[in-house]
Amino acid sequence: MQTEELTGKLAGTTRRSFIRGIAAAGAAAYTLDRSGVTSLLGAPAGAQRGRRFAAFDAIGASAADRFEAPEGFRADVLIAWGDEFADTDGNVFEYGFNNDFLAYFPLKGSKEGLLFINHEYVGPFYLHGFKPDVAGVAAGKTQEQVEIERRAVGNSILHVRRGRAGIWRVVSPSHYNTRVYGGQVDAPEVERSRFEVTGPLAGHPRVGSEIWGSVGNCSGGITPWGTAISCEENFDGYGMPLTVGSDVFLGWWDEGGHADYLPGAPYRDDPPGFAKYGWVCEHDPYDPGARPRKHTALGRFRHENTAFRASRGKRFVIYMGDDRANDGVYKFVSDRSYHPRDRANNLKILESGTLYIAKWFPEGRRRFSDPEGSVLLTQPFGTGEWIEVLESELIDTANLLEARFGDDYNAHFAMNRPEDLEVDPKTGDVYIALTNNSSVNDVHGSVRRLQEDGNDPEAMTFTWEDYANGGPRPGAPEGEAGFSCVDNLVFDKRNDLWIVTDISTSTLNRPGPLQYHANNAMFFVPTDEDPEDRIAYRFANMPIESEGTGPYFTPDEDTLFVNVQHPGELSNTNATSVYGRPATYNSYWPDGNKTENRNPSLPKPSTVVITRPHPKRWVDGMNVIPRPEGFVEHDHDND
Ligand code: FEO
Ligand code: CA
Ligand code: CA
Repeated sequence: MQTEELTGKLAGTTRRSFIRGIAAAGAAAYTLDRSGVTSLLGAPAGAQRGRRFAAFDAIGASAADRFEAPEGFRADVLIAWGDEFADTDGNVFEYGFNNDFLAYFPLKGSKEGLLFINHEYVGPFYLHGFKPDVAGVAAGKTQEQVEIERRAVGNSILHVRRGRAGIWRVVSPSHYNTRVYGGQVDAPEVERSRFEVTGPLAGHPRVGSEIWGSVGNCSGGITPWGTAISCEENFDGYGMPLTVGSDVFLGWWDEGGHADYLPGAPYRDDPPGFAKYGWVCEHDPYDPGARPRKHTALGRFRHENTAFRASRGKRFVIYMGDDRANDGVYKFVSDRSYHPRDRANNLKILESGTLYIAKWFPEGRRRFSDPEGSVLLTQPFGTGEWIEVLESELIDTANLLEARFGDDYNAHFAMNRPEDLEVDPKTGDVYIALTNNSSVNDVHGSVRRLQEDGNDPEAMTFTWEDYANGGPRPGAPEGEAGFSCVDNLVFDKRNDLWIVTDISTSTLNRPGPLQYHANNAMFFVPTDEDPEDRIAYRFANMPIESEGTGPYFTPDEDTLFVNVQHPGELSNTNATSVYGRPATYNSYWPDGNKTENRNPSLPKPSTVVITRPHPKRWVDGMNVIPRPEGFVEHDHDND
């Protein structure tokens, strides 16, 4: 542990206290934590450690069309797709679709701040009724439909405040409030969607020096200098035509004859596609006039998120996953060193440096014996080294690395869909969510831990172990029955892990090895337990055909934000949904509940806020969305 190292948490107004906290916690404190291991079987998760948020009774799996947190918690929709919010220049914005990454930037500690939120992609049917035709080959979208979609992706920056009754609201109008879109659209404050390109490929003929819009914003990260990082993940799903071979695109029209959304090699070699998307983007939510930037030094692949390690006077290190089956994990080491008090310097840190890809020994993937994922065939620990990515490979990083290394890429770089990476704030260890990989029969996924040799972020070698394995735990108590397909991770201050799952919509609640899980969920994993006791306690259930994304605590950890993405997703493509007739939709959430046949409504991706009210204020049913029938809301918040 290096003193004054910051790992993955934002400073903002809490910067000083956070640095003190990290410097005070060292190896000794960690050892003490680990010595206090007790069995939690039969007790509320976390109860014996005095944790406020983590002291809950784990909940059972659910296939219901509702969001559910444990009793004693209050869950509310903060904002839903289509809700309006305004800036102070008279611009009115709409909250985008499929909210994914979320980060809280303090203005006044944990009571008032800014939320930076990604809107990853759209469900075209819910936006405007478009569905692929029965032959599976989509008819073209109209220009108007594409415009609606471009306005529904990108990012939102929201000013939020917690009122006297403890309820969070969006502050509107506010000069902080804004939207970033998927292109140059006819929408308010579109200048915020004009990105500057930095790094070695700025001005490259396929990239340009500025880019309109951002797409595929999946997860992201923060920096210790108070900016938000947004990662363009499935960028290769947009351009025209709608299908190339077996690949299906969203069918966006290019603008003015520029093939901005064409994905480039290997899909479109002639003419070569543009490389406008697939980058790591940096935004400054605190500065309403700031231009966002796309940093080409961090490579172009299906970026899932970023997690950093920073020490005063040292190079800044960012870890990143490429969320595609059989692709890898990267780290970027900056040329500039990090200086906590020199924001102007730090804002340039991601503009130049060296990108590396992890090479795993004995191999990168967990392989299993059969499609049910029964028997693990590979070693669950090993060593690794960081291999430099060439500047010529930045434009199409994974594909060009695969071309360079051939079979070696498959054996030693390929992984099982690396999604979220997080750095343990106390130890500097890197945790990697490996969601699944059907090509090697990994049904349930795992969390892998990477430890740099010498605990040096700039080390060129590392060791690793598979830290927590997905899959059912037959015979375990309700709420402890296992998790599958981990996606986003977040550490709390006590060093425990919170995870959300991303079982694909087409698999959820279907017969097979994942049926035990029912809907996607959020889990709490105490990290101070012995590996064999390491239990995931089920904390929240998501509604039908959705996943939870972007979990994020306020600095005081009295509030947890979590996004609910794509409720009722299969209605986008199935034959039974009829546009404008909510009773035919697969989910009615959050305004209705399909499994209870209540209030058929348009399903809306929404940001949920979870708080723990004083026990006197807690009312049976306030832990679920929508509230149970007959529930009377007592809202004393006068803010
Ligand atoms: Fe957009 Fe990797 O999830
Ligand atoms: Ca994700
Ligand atoms: Ca996901």
